Amino acid sequence: MNATLPTSEALRAALAALLDGLPPKQAALAVDRLIASYRGTTPTDAPILRDRSDVAAYAAYRMPATFEAVRSCLAALREAAPDWVPATHTDIGGGTGAASWAVAGAWDGARTTVLDWSEPALALGRELAEASGVPGLRAATWERARIGVSPDPDPAALVTVSYVLKELTPKDRAAVVDAAAAAGQAVVIVEPGTPDGYDRVIEARERLIAAGMGIAAPCPHDEACPIERGTDWCHFSARVSRSSLHRQVKGGSLSHEDEKFSYVVATRFPTVPAGARVTRRPQIRKGQVLLELCTKDEGLRRDTVTKRHGALYRAARDTAWGDAWPPPGED
Ligand SMILES: C[S@@+](CC[C@H](N)C(=O)[O-])C[C@H]1O[C@@H](n2cnc3c(N)ncnc32)[C@H](O)[C@@H]1O
Repeated sequence: MNATLPTSEALRAALAALLDGLPPKQAALAVDRLIASYRGTTPTDAPILRDRSDVAAYAAYRMPATFEAVRSCLAALREAAPDWVPATHTDIGGGTGAASWAVAGAWDGARTTVLDWSEPALALGRELAEASGVPGLRAATWERARIGVSPDPDPAALVTVSYVLKELTPKDRAAVVDAAAAAGQAVVIVEPGTPDGYDRVIEARERLIAAGMGIAAPCPHDEACPIERGTDWCHFSARVSRSSLHRQVKGGSLSHEDEKFSYVVATRFPTVPAGARVTRRPQIRKGQVLLELCTKDEGLRRDTVTKRHGALYRAARDTAWGDAWPPPGED
């Protein structure tokens, strides 16, 4: 594989190679089985990713989406801390390594350790990483560890916990967030962009703040979230190109889909969080852009940016859901 490919394309190529030779019907069946297990009552006592076909299905079907979600979160961290570069990274519940691919794409040279209780997930993650041609990924360490049972992770500059909290008991959820806060200078927690995913992120956010960390993104402040629980949920969206397996399982001919995610990034070092964050897809009307914002001092607010605002209006037209507002340099 080509070491100069951006990680998103290198990941697609590695996944395509993985599926090569796997009969499409068999891959689709494995995905169906996996979707059914994830719908089941979680948490489970044993890994959902039990064998290679589960793991291959997970990787081919979900990894591009979880990768893009984490990539967006890391972009927000980089915007809040442009000069910070992590030397070490621990990916808790890292599975086949989606977050580690995103970290390797965001910074050069972070030494990554992936922790997971599923041996088949670690084995396939290692295989994909070796095929990546990306030096940081190829050098990653893949270790078996069970959240809440294995010793807490060693200190690391960056800790990621991506799409894991949903699979844990409340006690293990609290334990893993506390362990991440104790180990990391920066902690990135990502969950599906659903009301319950948001609830888990908010609980994690409170624990990270209680552990002495500051919020770098998406929130413009460390105060309580202004969303009244049960009325709405803070989530964002990342565009993911669909693979042929996706099209086969989901039907239709769309070339992409939007992965919805909720997240929080907390740090022990100073950052410059956004003045406000765009919390919905901006609505572009004739001569005006409507922005739903979460602001530093005024909670949730709707701004109407019109042509009269000149450069700010042009910036608003280019602004996306999840972006900082105003864009850096425009305030
Ligand atoms: C939905 S997958 C997410 C994988 C990866 N972080 C990503 O973003 O694609 C959840 C991962 O958490 C791992 N996991 C779940 N419960 C765990 C536990 N108690 N200890 C360690 N890993 C666990 C699973 O094996 C699986 O790899």
